[in-house]
Amino acid sequence: MAFIAANARRPDHTHVLLITTGSVASIKAPLIVKELLNQYSNVLVEVVTTKSSLAFYKKEDVEKAGSQVWTDEDEWTGTYKIGDPILHIELRRWADIVLVAPCSANTLSKIAHGLCDNLVTSLMRALSPSTPTYLFPAMNTLMYEHPLTAEHLRTIKEIVGYSIIGPIGKHLACGDVGVGAMTEWKDIVQVVVDHFRLSPKSAQPGP
Ligand SMILES: Cc1cc2nc3c(=O)[nH]c(=O)nc-3n(C[C@H](O)[C@H](O)[C@H](O)COP(=O)(O)O)c2cc1C
Repeated sequence: MAFIAANARRPDHTHVLLITTGSVASIKAPLIVKELLNQYSNVLVEVVTTKSSLAFYKKEDVEKAGSQVWTDEDEWTGTYKIGDPILHIELRRWADIVLVAPCSANTLSKIAHGLCDNLVTSLMRALSPSTPTYLFPAMNTLMYEHPLTAEHLRTIKEIVGYSIIGPIGKHLACGDVGVGAMTEWKDIVQVVVDHFRLSPKSAQPGP
């Protein structure tokens, strides 16, 4: 069924759009979704993914937690009539906050250059500047230390205006030790909790 922001938004809820891209740290996506949905009140999460990111987690794990995973195939259904909803526009209308976690070197570069050749980057290019947007880069240390990465980060911070958090240093999945790992997933959840002052479910008054 078509996703229409006006129907999918719920009053008094925080609408979190989690974007995952082709880094191993994508394996944390189901944990981020579960934590937000299970531990906090009045939160909705939608996940948008690149093709590569789906090598690292199962769509079903996110769906079981209560969210949907949107891919390029959902954007390009093969038929379009004037007036039909356009998925990347509907998703950005829906979002109160956007998290790109993890943000691969490739998607980082695309965002810095304004490319919009898939659902993730079309959505990012169509985002309102008033939507709080956080990028959590995750890549091999040498990818991170490549001179172009610093330039992409600078462009995104200074020209596009997104917040960049991390990466952190640790033993990376590829075997290298150094800076490049995604910020811990619980700290990513905390960004949303702090931004919207979300209430833990246990803090809700009883009926
Ligand atoms: C097993 C594996 C792990 C990878 N891990 C990373 C990573 O942590 N960070 C990164 O930037 N790219 C990583 N890559 C490369 C990206 O997946 C690749 O650049 C891809 O084109 C990214 O596409 P996307 O940005 O559209 O998701 C990895 C590739 C493979 C095969």
